[in-house]
Amino acid sequence: MLRKWCDGISSLTAGIEAIGSKFPQNMGPLFVNIFLNSLLAIALQAFGSQASDINDSHFVAGVVEFRPDFIGLTTEQLIAKHTDAYIEILSSPEALETDIVVFPESTLNNEFNTTYVPAPEEAIIPCLLANQSSRYEYYLIALSCAARDNRKYVIINLTEKEDCAANAAVDPRPCATNGLNIYNTNVVFDREGRVISRYRKVNIYVERKNTTYQPEFAIFDTDFGVRFAHFICFDLLFYTPAEELVAKYGIRNIIFTSMFASETPFLTAVQLQQSWAWGNNVTLLAAGASYPQSGATGSGIYAGSSGSLVSAMIGNSGVRQIYVAKVHKFAEKSPYTTAPETHTTAAAQPQTGVRLLRDPQLDNFNSQLLQLNASSVISVELCTEMLCCSLIAETTTTENSYGNGTTSDAYQYRFGVFTGRRSYEKEQYSDVAICAIYACTDDTVSSCGLLFPANTTIMPKFAFKRLQIEGSFQKTERLLIMPNTLDFSFYSLQPAQVAWNLADKSKSYDAEIALKASADNLLAFGIYANYYDSSSGAHKYCSSMLILSTSVLLWIGAYATDLLYVYEIL
Ligand SMILES: *[C@@H]1O[C@H](CO)[C@@H](O)[C@H](O)[C@H]1NC(C)=O
Ligand SMILES: *[C@@H]1O[C@H](CO)[C@@H](O)[C@H](O)[C@H]1NC(C)=O
Ligand SMILES: *[C@@H]1O[C@H](CO)[C@@H](O)[C@H](O)[C@H]1NC(C)=O
Ligand SMILES: *[C@@H]1O[C@H](CO)[C@@H](O)[C@H](O)[C@H]1NC(C)=O
Repeated sequence: MLRKWCDGISSLTAGIEAIGSKFPQNMGPLFVNIFLNSLLAIALQAFGSQASDINDSHFVAGVVEFRPDFIGLTTEQLIAKHTDAYIEILSSPEALETDIVVFPESTLNNEFNTTYVPAPEEAIIPCLLANQSSRYEYYLIALSCAARDNRKYVIINLTEKEDCAANAAVDPRPCATNGLNIYNTNVVFDREGRVISRYRKVNIYVERKNTTYQPEFAIFDTDFGVRFAHFICFDLLFYTPAEELVAKYGIRNIIFTSMFASETPFLTAVQLQQSWAWGNNVTLLAAGASYPQSGATGSGIYAGSSGSLVSAMIGNSGVRQIYVAKVHKFAEKSPYTTAPETHTTAAAQPQTGVRLLRDPQLDNFNSQLLQLNASSVISVELCTEMLCCSLIAETTTTENSYGNGTTSDAYQYRFGVFTGRRSYEKEQYSDVAICAIYACTDDTVSSCGLLFPANTTIMPKFAFKRLQIEGSFQKTERLLIMPNTLDFSFYSLQPAQVAWNLADKSKSYDAEIALKASADNLLAFGIYANYYDSSSGAHKYCSSMLILSTSVLLWIGAYATDLLYVYEIL
């Protein structure tokens, strides 16, 4: 069995009993919800009640963290329950002010009950076909009606079917025997319930789904004057279409639906979402499926280099919750310059029960254990063949403790540099370059990226009062350099706490990340560069060829062992 980054639940459905017994559900109190609802109520009063229009400086967005049902229900019951819950959220008081609402992937229908989806060119409003025999399933119609009734843009993910014949002119590949293509698809309804955009997923893995012959770039405009592009989950780690939409098409507002499995120490969900939005300086609306036991959680609204407006990493048994923020529009071509007015995180409290992956290359970093006490000053330089990075750190005392467990402990830190290829799932990988410090539970390399058990109180022995990491990253055509930070609560540091600077030298970028305020609760802090697939310009979307290099096989071995562990967040 391999690890799954995205869409973990559909594959888990069959084996859920086994997993349930290995990873017992932790039914903790739902204080998170209550806390957030009161914040939302306060925030909503400030928003006023009009739909935003083209002359407004902002719009109001909602992203939904959604816990799917999947035990003991038939496909029909399951879809009916999900559809009802979606509609309830769309018509809830929390959603009242939103112009646009994003639901996560894989939380509506499944491959046993697929629906046709009209092409945007047809400008069809499925809701208006409700009383005629139509080719669209009732849930597509019901959600079109919900978008229409509530006058909102709504983005959903579903499993779509298409007659191969309709596509034969552009796709020469052989059709399945039932005459259908099955896609993972994002569907966008406008305020009338009209289907105005459709995106079929490109980066598919171990899903019995078809890929599009050519990658699609799904872009749509709204009546409040904002142009969006949207894509799904795993796409965020790849150049096409995600990075290409920003770098080549100049889109500044991105919608991302996901069921994402977090990986320590650099790619947990909210951490990656914020890093990606900041590195690109774009608005990102990210909605995550909520199933922490399988690793899926993480939603948020991010304002580029102004950081997160709202974000949620949920523990325990997951939630069905909309997170709302007022988002400033980008002025023509100008990046974010102002600080966000609000920043909320769903849980500053310790969480439990999120299953985490670990970076399979972490043991291969060129790293050095930092010998730090409460009054250290150190300076370290480490290199790989491709990259040298420097670290300057100063520490001071701290009185803080985190959690109220029965034992206490403190993390140690390594400074590490890595350049090379990392795989995600068996045939997909990126070339990355990383310079960072990361937390380890002891002085060994193999303890890095692990967390202390939930019953441990973390009592840091020092705080970083200065922490600065610099590196010079070789320029290539496909490259995204991101600030990457993670604290004990699994959120990233905000622009008030961290400075990020990227200087364009002709052949390279000089990147620097530095603390602005002292911190004693870091799990990771550094620079993460994604060079995507630097070895070839060729696209591999249609190929399912397994790249069998020895190193890939080794990594697969490492994943299998990873699966034996459950890393609990504090
Ligand atoms: C936006 O402002 C322009 C110029 O003031 C005005 O003509 C237009 O009607 C406004 N549009 C909306 C939707 O209010
Ligand atoms: C989109 O949702 C459907 C239905 O829940 C799911 O089967 C599919 O896997 C999802 N998309 C992706 C990319 O996983
Ligand atoms: C469909 O029929 C129902 C009941 O007859 C009616 O209430 C509803 O307005 C109709 N919907 C449309 C879109 O015509
Ligand atoms: C779609 O997937 C099915 C099942 O894997 C396969 O038989 C068929 O050839 C695929 N269609 C295309 C156009 O690739």
